[in-house]
Amino acid sequence: EKIFGPSRRNSQGLDLTDECMLETLDKSLRETDHTYISRPLIAHYDASGDATRPVINPADHRDIVGQVTYASDAAIEKALGNADQEATWSKMTPAARRDILDKCADALEAHMIELIALLVREAGKTYANAVGEVREAVDFLRYYGAQVATKDSEATITPLGIILCISPWNFPLAIFTGQIAASLAAGNAVIAKPAEETPLIAAMAVRLFHESGVPLPALQLLPGDGDVGAALVADKRIDGVMFTGSTKVGKLISGVLLGRRGRTGQPVSFIAETGGQNAMLVDSSSLPEQAVTDIIASAFDSAGQRCSALRVLLVQDDCAEHVIDMLKGALDEISVGDPSQLSTDIGPVISEEAKSRIEDHIAAMRDAGRVIWQPKNGLVQQAGWFVPPTIIEVGRVADIGQEVFGPVLHVRRFERQELSSVIDAVNATGYALTFGIQSRVKSTIQHATSRSHAGNIYVNRNIIGATVGSQPFGGRAFPARGRRRGAAPRATARPVR
Ligand code: NAD
Ligand code: ALA
Repeated sequence: EKIFGPSRRNSQGLDLTDECMLETLDKSLRETDHTYISRPLIAHYDASGDATRPVINPADHRDIVGQVTYASDAAIEKALGNADQEATWSKMTPAARRDILDKCADALEAHMIELIALLVREAGKTYANAVGEVREAVDFLRYYGAQVATKDSEATITPLGIILCISPWNFPLAIFTGQIAASLAAGNAVIAKPAEETPLIAAMAVRLFHESGVPLPALQLLPGDGDVGAALVADKRIDGVMFTGSTKVGKLISGVLLGRRGRTGQPVSFIAETGGQNAMLVDSSSLPEQAVTDIIASAFDSAGQRCSALRVLLVQDDCAEHVIDMLKGALDEISVGDPSQLSTDIGPVISEEAKSRIEDHIAAMRDAGRVIWQPKNGLVQQAGWFVPPTIIEVGRVADIGQEVFGPVLHVRRFERQELSSVIDAVNATGYALTFGIQSRVKSTIQHATSRSHAGNIYVNRNIIGATVGSQPFGGRAFPARGRRRGAAPRATARPVR
């Protein structure tokens, strides 16, 4: 009951082996005559006359998925004014708010097919990833509602006021919904600023929140790019910011917020979930078949576009050749391409800019003679932004540089006596999100677990896809010289995850 409310479990999703279900899904995806629209959703403000721009399918850039209207200065001003006066929501009991969030969870499940189709077209998600994403969004809604409404909860939840939720494109429904659900559960008014690449799924989610009973002034949508986000962050009426995205932007926002106080004179609350330079340690006692399966899922699922994704494989010299050979063999069977085909394992990256950033990194590593594997036959030529899965071998973890947000795995071999120093090298990157250990030696597992700084440590499994309610997810650092963990200001508006 504490986790999801009475007799609730994690959302069950869809059975992708059910032929009828697949036909319905396929039909929903092909019905491209419905054009999606995302515009500012604000009380007493009509943005329907404002200029629009197209939203493109990353797997086929000839496919215009819908249109978005960015929030103008007038829209931003109006939304902040409305949110300031919002009182109905904060005065509701936690149980009443929980009931509305539960209703919204049910609505998401009822619209699962349409949400999946939009996630595939707008964000390039494979079916499996899209199902996982809707399930996670549903779980967040039930989880946060139950957390604040639990009778024996020891936490006293006091709303902060107006919370600005800024989300990334890589979980355009789950993270977007999770931030909002947490802030609303605690009685705050929310201004949601989705990523510019994925405003359509955000608009659909906000409509479902409203239809489920969240008053419009308690949740307003302001689509737009980083400029819209920056204008909101700088506004003195914002009492707290929930941000998920790149470390660079997280630092920028932190700098702005540290320079001012909130309306009560207190520091502005800030929760930042940012990037990762995540590693998995594979020692010579590990089971190679299991390690290879977990490496592939961790590094290449979602085309490597997960903050939790594996970037650095630390593999012990004695077994390295064998593990890498098996990895190459398994990757030869992986299919990259159209995410609306059930057989596709890896879909596109999100944009042309993302593709060229990743390709620049691969090209630099190729010039240095470090690329050790790419698919034999290259990629099928498609009008989309695809990057082949790539393996790069490095001599030092530090040679990798910043987080590369795509299907690229770096390998660093190590000798037994280097076990501690390779973990230290990962810690020294300043990122500390996820870490994996593949070993059958208890003392090695214990040693690596205590030495790694990562927030989430996984043993003998993949390192992605934390499950709401059973695996609290979050990093423990905010890359800044000399700081080890918890450096981001972390007064939270949401209950503990
Ligand atoms: P991003 O930082 O470019 O953008 C994230 C959001 O910030 C977008 O909505 C964007 O419009 C907004 N933004 C950009 N500049 C801004 C500014 N100056 N002020 C306010 N808002 C601004 O990140 P992205 O490319 O959308 O997402 C990928 C990144 O997110 C990766 O680094 C990934 O690791 C990270 N991520 C982290 C987690 C986590 O839980 N730790 C989860 C998912 C993604
Ligand atoms: N929560 C997501 C994962 O664990 C980011 O992969």
